[in-house]
Amino acid sequence: MHVIAPSILSANFARLGAEVIDVIDSGADWIHFDVMDNHYVPNLTIGPLVCEAIRPLTSAPIDVHLMIRPVDRIVPDFARAGANIITFHPEASEHVDRTLSLIRENGCQAGLVFNPATPLDWMEHVLDKLDLVLLMSVNPGFGGQKFIPSTLAKLRAARARIDAHERETGRRIRLEIDGGVKVDNIAEIARAGADTFVAGSAVYGAGRDADPHRYDSVLAALRAQLEKT
Ligand code: DX5
Ligand code: ZN
Repeated sequence: MHVIAPSILSANFARLGAEVIDVIDSGADWIHFDVMDNHYVPNLTIGPLVCEAIRPLTSAPIDVHLMIRPVDRIVPDFARAGANIITFHPEASEHVDRTLSLIRENGCQAGLVFNPATPLDWMEHVLDKLDLVLLMSVNPGFGGQKFIPSTLAKLRAARARIDAHERETGRRIRLEIDGGVKVDNIAEIARAGADTFVAGSAVYGAGRDADPHRYDSVLAALRAQLEKT
């Protein structure tokens, strides 16, 4: 099943609760929650307090993307704040296997995030601890960047590895893409193997003036493209 996860990084933070509710009411599946620390990435965003504040507004999964270093200390805080999925960048953790276990021990699904230049080898010895693999199709830190085309080949390679793991174990790992996903490229991205699509500026940048159902048409357009695949 295809999952669309709007990134609230591009939402209007002055009315964040309404932005979360609107996007889910308009047909989004997950909320993608970008955490930046002005250290691992050159930007600063939101933390567990904001996750806790939006948690009661929706039953949709909250997909927390940690762009922070160090990783481990904040994991239990996000779990308590209602995160369902927690992903992190392997370069930002001293002990990747331990961090994946920590996320699961705290009751969340766990995933690794691969920057454009990060090799997929990082997943090789921890596949059994992964619920999700997230490929960055931009360099992390900002919304509204352009999709890096070489990510398509990387997606195909990740899809092959994940499918082989599923054949060996019967266990399915989601393959998520994050950065520059738009109506005009989502079909190609899906054909390359992604099943979960983060879209920030494409969703929140559309329909700002189309109250009350601001995001219905862009989400329908994204889904219509996915149905063609
Ligand atoms: C970038 C973030 C993304 C970002 C995507 O570091 O991880 O989730 O919000 O934004 P768009 O869809 O605008 O590229
Ligand atoms: Zn993200």
